[in-house]
Amino acid sequence: MENTHAKLFEVIAENAERTEAALAEIMKGEDEDFGLIYDAQRYSLLGGGKRVRPFLVNECCRVLGGSAEASMPLACAIEMIHTYSLIHDDLPCMDDDDVRRGKPSNHKKFGYANALLAGDALLTGAFKVIADAEVLSPEIRVKAVRVLAEAAGESGMIGGQIMDLVGETEELAFEKLIKLHSLKTAALMEGCAKLGCLAAGYDTDSYESEQLTEYARNVGVAFQVMDDVLDQIADEKILGKHLGADAEHNKTTFLTYYNVDEAKKYAEGLTGEAITAVSAIEHSELLTDFACYLLEREK
Ligand code: IPE
Ligand code: IPE
Ligand code: MG
Ligand code: MG
Ligand code: MG
Repeated sequence: MENTHAKLFEVIAENAERTEAALAEIMKGEDEDFGLIYDAQRYSLLGGGKRVRPFLVNECCRVLGGSAEASMPLACAIEMIHTYSLIHDDLPCMDDDDVRRGKPSNHKKFGYANALLAGDALLTGAFKVIADAEVLSPEIRVKAVRVLAEAAGESGMIGGQIMDLVGETEELAFEKLIKLHSLKTAALMEGCAKLGCLAAGYDTDSYESEQLTEYARNVGVAFQVMDDVLDQIADEKILGKHLGADAEHNKTTFLTYYNVDEAKKYAEGLTGEAITAVSAIEHSELLTDFACYLLEREK
């Protein structure tokens, strides 16, 4: 694997480093009366993570000839939304997970109320990061805010999280499960593609943005299919999360309908669709490679 993806891993690592530096800069604020909220945000935002979404934003922008400076604020904003979604996802009222990225989850470390507020602060802060991104024109910033709100809100990630909870008390039909995965995970990935395109000066209705969004949608659903698979078969130490959490909650997941091999095949099919979607986009080799790597990931 290492050899096949050598160049990709180099770019992923470099991207993660730059993203983390930019996020650390955003998180510099401090007020002694509520320093805990900064600590709680930093704990999750700067505490590991594969940085899949910033990679997607920055790479889509790069493929279309945009600059790394233009896409970085948008990459940071969506990673802040992603991080908030994980903090809240782990809360006792949701998936009730004590471990994330091999460490105590945010509420285990800081308490329920502080974790709730840290998530709220990241969500709110993400939009401020875009509003303040002077490297982008005001018009692009407004478009980016809309894309992010749509991807994160009830028409996207939140809608998926609601369906996910419903899927604990009733078995969702297969089409509903696809909708759930499209919303809870792929919606943010689609948002990444759209944001990367906006940063490069391509509107959401351009051919390039539509193809890259289609790529991201397929990658996103495949990502969640493999997340469901990993929940059952991963090495817990590598995964950094408790195994079997979905089954404990009686969640409707891909493994409700498919066994592990069938689910992997399904994810492979989606990856093929993703690759087809970008086949006419120049310089998209790393995106193709990235989609393949995500299929093989162990965490
Ligand atoms: C976990 O996302 C939540 C899902 C959408 C499955 P990631 O697997 O990207 O989490 P980190 O950021 O790398 O920890
Ligand atoms: C999470 O899905 C999707 C989010 C929007 C946070 P999961 O609940 O399956 O993610 P993990 O397995 O806890 O990372
Ligand atoms: Mg969940
Ligand atoms: Mg969860
Ligand atoms: Mg999961």
